[in-house]
Amino acid sequence: MTEPTILAIESSCDETSAAVIRGAKILSNIVATQAVHEQYGGVVPELASRAHQQNIIPVVTQALLAANVTKTELNAVAFTRGPGLLGALLVGCSFAKSFALGLNIPLIEVNHMQAHILAHFIDEPRPDFPFLCLTVSGGHTQLVLVKSHLDMEIIGQTTDDAVGEAFDKTAKMLGLPYPGGPMLDKAAAAGNPKAFQFPVSNMPGYDFSFSGIKTSVLYFLKDQTKQHPDFVQENMADICASVQHTLIKTLLKKLVQASKDLGIKDVAIAGGVSANSGLRKTLQEYAKKHNWNVFIPAFQYCTDNAAMIAMAAHYQYLAGDFSDQYASPDPRLKF
Ligand code: KG4
Ligand code: ZN
Repeated sequence: MTEPTILAIESSCDETSAAVIRGAKILSNIVATQAVHEQYGGVVPELASRAHQQNIIPVVTQALLAANVTKTELNAVAFTRGPGLLGALLVGCSFAKSFALGLNIPLIEVNHMQAHILAHFIDEPRPDFPFLCLTVSGGHTQLVLVKSHLDMEIIGQTTDDAVGEAFDKTAKMLGLPYPGGPMLDKAAAAGNPKAFQFPVSNMPGYDFSFSGIKTSVLYFLKDQTKQHPDFVQENMADICASVQHTLIKTLLKKLVQASKDLGIKDVAIAGGVSANSGLRKTLQEYAKKHNWNVFIPAFQYCTDNAAMIAMAAHYQYLAGDFSDQYASPDPRLKF
């Protein structure tokens, strides 16, 4: 059998992306980031849908061109079913359904959070099963036991805000421009992570909470600026480094616990926040201390991209996991 060639579409939030995969090899991955949200300081769902609508054909065309693949060579079309913004998902779903129908090829619906984890199978080194993955993004924070490519179990998750949200909201409080997470990361590089103390939440089991840190930063800033109006400007790097340090500590505490309890030494991070330089560096330090094999995705596969959707689609294709003509997005899709 020739290796299947699949077109994959990602449109769950503010990135319109298309990728082509042949066998397990990514041939192209085009990502159009929507700049329209910058002026609003966050993603505006209605504008995201409209931008996907505008971008989808040029992005798919570029992905096919870059892969040197024609439409007639495709064996399947995959799309992100969820979780994500409903209007944004609808664009990718409708496009993929029409494309598959027009070409008379099967449709594959992919879970965005599982795809973030499967980004680890794009390049070497690939983790062995089972492994633990901390999936950290703008909408989710999950600790996942990955048993195989298509069998994953969420063993812990946030009970309130996602860690990406905590990064973004803190950045906003500090007056940093959107997107806040990467800005806070940059500012933290020159700061002292122990300059200020914020609470590390103590949730039962492997669950997380980030709303307490957010509130404590808010009151801390209110208090300090009352006495010194320039407090934030003068201490920006130290505040960012201290908040980042607390968020990383909160995340890794649960990873350490799960690794000990389950006796699993292969650990990975995935999702937008896995691009954070502090998290990447601290994970390497923990690897030495706890004798872990750590897997950190390449930068371009941390934030949203269709290559990871294509990778998930590849395994689903091999498993015969196709969807029917009634496929529809699910903004709250679970595993
Ligand atoms: O996975 P992703 O691209 O989209 C979702 O599925 O949500 O993750 C986006 C999140 C945002 O909250 C963004 O601020 C955060 O990832 N992020 C970062 C960094 N790069 C992206 N957070 C901290 N440091 C970074 N370098
Ligand atoms: Zn994502």
